[in-house]
Amino acid sequence: MAFRAVKGMNDILPDEVERWQFAEAAFRDAVRCHGYAEVRTPIVEPTALFVRSIGENTDVVDKEMYTFERHDDSLTLRPEGTAGAVRAYIERTTHAREPVSRWYYLGPMFRAERPQRGRYRQFYQAGCEVYGDKGPTADAEMITMLYDFFLSVGITGLDVKVNSLGGAVTRQRYHEALTEYFRPRLDQLSAHAQTRVEDNPLRILDSKDPKDQKAAEAAPSILDMLDETDRDHFSELCKSLDDLGTPYRVDSRLVRGLDYYTRTLFEIASTAGELGSQNALAGGGRYDNLVQALGGPSVPAIGFALGLERLILAIPAKPATSSSLCFFAPLGAAAARRSLVLARDLRRRGLVTEVDGRGGSLKSLLRRADALGARCAVVIGDSELAREAAIVKDLANHTQGLVNLSILAQFVEKLLKSAANQSSGEVN
Ligand code: HAM
Repeated sequence: MAFRAVKGMNDILPDEVERWQFAEAAFRDAVRCHGYAEVRTPIVEPTALFVRSIGENTDVVDKEMYTFERHDDSLTLRPEGTAGAVRAYIERTTHAREPVSRWYYLGPMFRAERPQRGRYRQFYQAGCEVYGDKGPTADAEMITMLYDFFLSVGITGLDVKVNSLGGAVTRQRYHEALTEYFRPRLDQLSAHAQTRVEDNPLRILDSKDPKDQKAAEAAPSILDMLDETDRDHFSELCKSLDDLGTPYRVDSRLVRGLDYYTRTLFEIASTAGELGSQNALAGGGRYDNLVQALGGPSVPAIGFALGLERLILAIPAKPATSSSLCFFAPLGAAAARRSLVLARDLRRRGLVTEVDGRGGSLKSLLRRADALGARCAVVIGDSELAREAAIVKDLANHTQGLVNLSILAQFVEKLLKSAANQSSGEVN
């Protein structure tokens, strides 16, 4: 029987990995220059951590967690990174050592959602969390960092939405106002939304069902219910975004699916690339009460996560650029042995080099060099060996020359470095 990967969980093969590494490196660069440092937390956490932080009546906790029992504990594969980061922040008493912490992470998350393009059961997130800064300038800085990051990797058609949920009291008042609004309109709602009216009516505002969207048209706006300090926080955030020139729009229907949020909420979507309907690239917000709710001190926090699969779908595919691979095509056993030594010398200079020692015709070896996208091929047969030389083929410019083996390393290094300079910053 042939095994298949678990539904909704993908292999990332070497020919795709280059795009991943490009995206991950660009993310690390973007956040490092804002002072973030990496945190790595376990993939498995106590189930109760997610129930307490994400909330019992959310889709994630209600339907999507991979939960199992081991040694009498209930454990869950993390559906997101914030809960584990907060747990680590509290457990390691980070607040006692530094007033502000800026953490970032990259890694797999697990949600048993219905798989489709851009939505998977194992997916990768890159995220940031800031502890100890109550904003609103920190909020504007984070949104701008994320927006600029997307621009820097070439994503177009960006749509930045911001909203405020107010504090816990406002949120509770809004919950009640929405329940009152939807209760007499039950028959106008989808079957799923009907089950949410009492326990989590905010989720109805998020529904993609046109029926729910129509029914919610005249629903009260959270922005009308904010108290004065929440309103000030939100208008300061908008002013800072204006100062920074970050384009955004206020969307009072933006609620997001996790219960820990307070005040600032944001989401960035894109119409670009091959995203399709799952076009939310990233989402986040403030969660000023969560550290305390999980047993820590009262420390304000804000964060976001982006989906790496979606990011990669949205990054434009660039035309193939000349690579910096040097391919050795030895003809015969003696040439193959000599190629090993020559290739080792190239690698000691940090050059990417592959020796094809399978034998076979020059034609078949060069076909493979082409398939690998090699920048140059070094061909050595018995007659070249006798002359202590090799034929170096510049595969991009279709030229070739005989090069003495004593200067082969310098010659190839120069060729590859000039190719790398022409293509720096581009993705294959
Ligand atoms: P989230 O909105 O649930 O937020 O997820 C953030 C991003 O992860 C989404 O915008 C999307 O790009 C990606 N994503 C979510 N689910 C899937 C999936 N099934 N398949 C592929 N990509 C997916 C959070 O997770 C919060 N922890 C963000 C945060 C950090 N808030 C504060 N700090």
